[in-house]
Amino acid sequence: MGVLSRIGIALDSELLKRFDRSIARRGYTNRSEAFRDLIRDRLVTEQTAAPDATVVGTVTLIYDHHASGITEKLTEVQHEHHELVVSTSHAHLDHDSCLEVLIVHGKSAKVEQFADLLIGLKGVQHGRLVMTVPAHAIEHAHEHGHKHSHKH
Ligand code: NI
Repeated sequence: MGVLSRIGIALDSELLKRFDRSIARRGYTNRSEAFRDLIRDRLVTEQTAAPDATVVGTVTLIYDHHASGITEKLTEVQHEHHELVVSTSHAHLDHDSCLEVLIVHGKSAKVEQFADLLIGLKGVQHGRLVMTVPAHAIEHAHEHGHKHSHKH
């Protein structure tokens, strides 16, 4: 962490009350830490939106292993993109349902395409990609003034 700066923020008191209740539910004991996390979340979201940003993340998939060819298809797609896959973990949830979590890394755009392929497979019931970067990677990008394109 760099030098600490103190800032004052003018806020609607009703908004602040709601914020305080929200962070209390999440277990924060002070506002500063809650604000820091909000700001980091915003910066991470912006940075991972840049297609050429190097990101890490997880792809979570729920599927029924009885669905025709799903197990083979999942394996095939993962082998085709093996350079993006760090590891996978599989849990047999019940008689039918499987949960698979992949740890992925690579360029944001490639990781997103890969996750979309997996989530879009017939038989995958629900899937979600979470992309992030370590805090020092955020600071690094800003110190060097890289321009990041923005995509929604
Ligand atoms: Ni299973």
